[in-house]
Amino acid sequence: MSRCYGKLRISGKTKICALIGDPVEHSLSPHIHNAAFKHLKLNFVYIAFKVSRENVKEALLGVRALGIKGLNVTMPLKTSVIPYLDKLDSNAEKIGAVNTILNHEGTLIGYNTDGLGALHALRARGQNPSGKNILILGAGGAARAVAFALCEEACTLTILNRTFRKAKKLAEELGEKFGKKVKHGRLAPQDLKTNVKEADILINATSVGMIPYENETPVDTKLLHSNLTVFDLVYNPQETRLLREAKAAGARTIDGLSMLIHQGAISFEIWTGRKAPIDVMVKACEKALKGEGK
Ligand code: ATR
Repeated sequence: MSRCYGKLRISGKTKICALIGDPVEHSLSPHIHNAAFKHLKLNFVYIAFKVSRENVKEALLGVRALGIKGLNVTMPLKTSVIPYLDKLDSNAEKIGAVNTILNHEGTLIGYNTDGLGALHALRARGQNPSGKNILILGAGGAARAVAFALCEEACTLTILNRTFRKAKKLAEELGEKFGKKVKHGRLAPQDLKTNVKEADILINATSVGMIPYENETPVDTKLLHSNLTVFDLVYNPQETRLLREAKAAGARTIDGLSMLIHQGAISFEIWTGRKAPIDVMVKACEKALKGEGK
């Protein structure tokens, strides 16, 4: 999928931002960022480089040598880039994973904008986590970033995961790092029944419902209720089965594109120092998903 954003004005002063990881071919990030650069008339361009774990050191040496301004980092490199950076911001350091790098005059600084992106997506839809019962499904990388961000908020947190020991480990780590008591359990009918009933906000941070398993859902439809806000981090499809069934139950819904956009917007602001044009980014993303400009 490729899209042409009008006339590309590449010059000797053009700054480069890029995504590194594997796979990257179907990433929406080039669409989102190039549309935003163009809208603000910034002399930046965003591309994607397929980089394996074995080549991460050379890739980052290349970033320094070529003066590449900023990076997004995706699977499987979010932790393996860390030894090659000069500094980590406190959030990335706590989480132990990086999804954004700024090349500040030769100093490579690592950030993690995933959790804050989720928080901004919630707030943009009028959902302030403060005082809420929040239920997170999953205990992988995405769940971890979201849970770390929510631990800074005055909310109660519960983590349910298919593999119980991972939920327990994450809850214990959050307890140690934030002094916050986090409940945990199994992503299984009994624990779901009690916890979904009590939840104000349910966040699906598992990969259940993602293409090609779009007919699956992590939560039995019968458990969904109208007092819930359901936030699904899966964005492919944009409307997952979970979101469809949550809507039918009268719940408010937030899709995974919101998180993608908001974490991207924070990265954009780190690289450019400019406020990200969220609406432009959303439109570019939706167009790219519809496959326009193939
Ligand atoms: P990500 O970075 O997207 O979070 P990840 O770290 O591989 O990816 O985590 C995937 C999450 O989805 C995990 O919580 C995983 O549960 P396990 O820890 O038990 O593996 C969850 N997950 C994936 N497939 C699942 C399934 N079919 N049913 C329930 N949970 C599933």
